[in-house]
Amino acid sequence: MGRFIIEGGRKLGGRLRVQGAKNSALPILAATVAVGRPCVIHNCPSLTDINSTLEILKALGCEVHRSGGSVSVDSGRMIMNDIPDELMREMRSSIVFLGALLTRTGEAHICAPGGCDIGMRPIDLHFFAMEKLGVSLTEEYGRICCKCAKTKGAKITLSFPSVGATENIILASLRCSGVTTIINAAREPEIVDLAMFLNSCGARISGAGESTVYIEGVERLYPTQYTVMPDRIAACTFMTAAAVTGSDLLLEEVAPNHIAPVLQCFETCGCKIVTSSNRLRITAPDRLNSMGTIRTMPYPGFPTDCQSLIMTMASTAVGTTVICENIFENRFRHAAELNRMGADISVHDKIAVVNGVDRLQGAAVCAHDLRAGAALTVAGLCAQGCTTVDNIHFIDRGYEFFEKNLNYIGAKIKRID
Ligand code: UD1
Repeated sequence: MGRFIIEGGRKLGGRLRVQGAKNSALPILAATVAVGRPCVIHNCPSLTDINSTLEILKALGCEVHRSGGSVSVDSGRMIMNDIPDELMREMRSSIVFLGALLTRTGEAHICAPGGCDIGMRPIDLHFFAMEKLGVSLTEEYGRICCKCAKTKGAKITLSFPSVGATENIILASLRCSGVTTIINAAREPEIVDLAMFLNSCGARISGAGESTVYIEGVERLYPTQYTVMPDRIAACTFMTAAAVTGSDLLLEEVAPNHIAPVLQCFETCGCKIVTSSNRLRITAPDRLNSMGTIRTMPYPGFPTDCQSLIMTMASTAVGTTVICENIFENRFRHAAELNRMGADISVHDKIAVVNGVDRLQGAAVCAHDLRAGAALTVAGLCAQGCTTVDNIHFIDRGYEFFEKNLNYIGAKIKRID
């Protein structure tokens, strides 16, 4: 499973390039199935979740080649519409293959997806939307069979702005008859990136990034090359590392406008932030201030994926920070691990109260999901002594060369496989 051994208490500094966005690259790669023509996707990060996606593409019969950060996918001669269970269970985002396969072949055979254990994570909204588009769903032996020769444009109102469901509706509607309208769509930058990729193939999607998205069905899609946007959560992770170690760090190839609500928290706790169009410099004080109350919300609110990172920052800040997790119901497991390191955090249902302590102490801790793993590693950077973080395979799902990047800016982290 692997672990990190972190020597805490070192200052960080210098500059770092931020990886391409995992949560954009995954649906864009899945979308190449719907396109049916050769596509080249640049700035794909090197991650185990990307590897799993490429395995699914290969299992479907696509030709896939990877060269550094560029992945070419030709789904022209794809023959399958059945995703093997073991690949489907590797990650939650495999569910977006559903919409892509329906557009391409009119059929998809899948089981329930896997992913980090941060709550129940149902897929009812995806199925509700597919039925609205005229897709018939049947379940046999735990596998779901979805069929529809051609989806029919429909007006779909989501009861919650689910990122994955919005992506799936877009993908399933690319060649629908008429227009599909998504009301209460997710507004995350990754939705905009997916729509821009698809529009570069000839799709007609408008309103992405707003609450109402329109997809006008087209007859054909065309080959394209596309560069994935920067990863906003990875950017925030490195900013957190700088913040808790009182460091000065320059991030390059970052999109500061995607992380506005998080930047506000960094400023509240005393960090100085200077941004330009694709760079961000953070200068942290010796000791952070608490951040008041933080509530995770759908975009453009505070992202749930940064909640564990903010908790690490709040752990050693002066005063009390209250964190309210509104998106996932089981996303505070890192609190107990931070308490092992001397933090003072109490959790009551979806509220965590973090009383800042003077210092964290190195300890043996365990990651239970991807972002928790990153947050515990960052905690290890500012802790006194040595910290070991177990289960780092979670971190490898979402961070490219994580410890190498941190070591490059001054950390001392050893990977034990
Ligand atoms: C995506 C991101 C993930 C992020 C999350 C919220 C990817 C690959 N992952 O996950 O990193 O934490 O958005 O920003 O892009 N829900 C239902 N029924 C559904 C679908 C969702 O009840 O059919 C609920 C979920 O359980 C959760 C909430 O809606 O409580 C948000 O989920 P959703 O936006 O769908 O997240 P994901 O697309 O899974």
